[in-house]
Amino acid sequence: MSPIRKIGVLTSGGDAPGMNAAIRAVVRVGIYHNLEVIGIKRGYTGLLEKDFLPMQNHSVSKIISLGGTILKSSRCPQFCESEVRKVAYHNMLEAGIDALAVIGGDGSFRGAHALHQEFGLPVVGIPGTIDNDIYGTDFTIGYDTAINTAISAIDKIRDTADSHNIIFFVEVMGRDAGFIGLSTSIATGAEATLIPEVESDIQALCDYLEYGRRKNKTSGIVIVAEGCRVGSATEVAAKVKEILPAYETRVTTLGHIQRGGSPSCSDRVLASVLGYGAVVALLDGLSDVMVGEINGEIVHTPFVKAIANHNALNRNWVKIAKILSM
Ligand code: F6P
Repeated sequence: MSPIRKIGVLTSGGDAPGMNAAIRAVVRVGIYHNLEVIGIKRGYTGLLEKDFLPMQNHSVSKIISLGGTILKSSRCPQFCESEVRKVAYHNMLEAGIDALAVIGGDGSFRGAHALHQEFGLPVVGIPGTIDNDIYGTDFTIGYDTAINTAISAIDKIRDTADSHNIIFFVEVMGRDAGFIGLSTSIATGAEATLIPEVESDIQALCDYLEYGRRKNKTSGIVIVAEGCRVGSATEVAAKVKEILPAYETRVTTLGHIQRGGSPSCSDRVLASVLGYGAVVALLDGLSDVMVGEINGEIVHTPFVKAIANHNALNRNWVKIAKILSM
């Protein structure tokens, strides 16, 4: 295998706080090892449109504290087609890019895995998503910031809920995973939590809210994770209102504020360590793997495994959330 001289780095899928810290680490560790580093703009779209940006140490100055991604991101469904990936590979060959670091979620890793399978391109993944649903790492880049953003919003909602005796249904992100829902629920002392991993029942939720009322609870927060099986926060609130018409209810969807903002200390450190780990992995001849952190150690998980599996939610936390909400 010829030595790696020039690496590309891109961010793909939903942006997450800490992606910039990861870009910075890839660029600086690459340059430290005498590599050229090319930033690829707008994820895989930039590979197709040759939107390339040579990067120097100073290109990533002062970005560690910035949310979003300076390289911009996109979802690129056409990258599922092999003919499209061929164009991307030829564009990389033409630009002399001989390895790729992909910062994103499992959809982004699928694209990277295909590039490795079809063209033998050395590729490595760095898990960046607020959802924390990626197998092969304790935490994904962006998750810690997102849950802190969410709890500060929910704490504020709690003030209004208490002042006006309202039950608030607060929808949080997470796609098909309940990590954001469960953590924010425990951290804000929510009265109830609906997450995709656990069967939810509207009547049981109403019974529980009534039980709280009998114990003189006059307000409440119900966290509804967006992938939950009984519907969106708006739908859940409507169903509850049908059963408990006397309840004053409101719905707040936190939405994309959870994706933005300056990354937390944990996310900056995680992103820096994983960015470092990604470049070292490529130089060590590893490919088709995702770099993660488990119990404080850098670990490498083959893409096929990272894609086929999901981070498992700790079921004990569901019980803890329930007990603490009583
Ligand atoms: O994967 C991150 C995420 O924010 C999910 O939590 C959410 O389901 C999705 O992206 C929203 O994506 P978009 O911004 O494309 O609507």
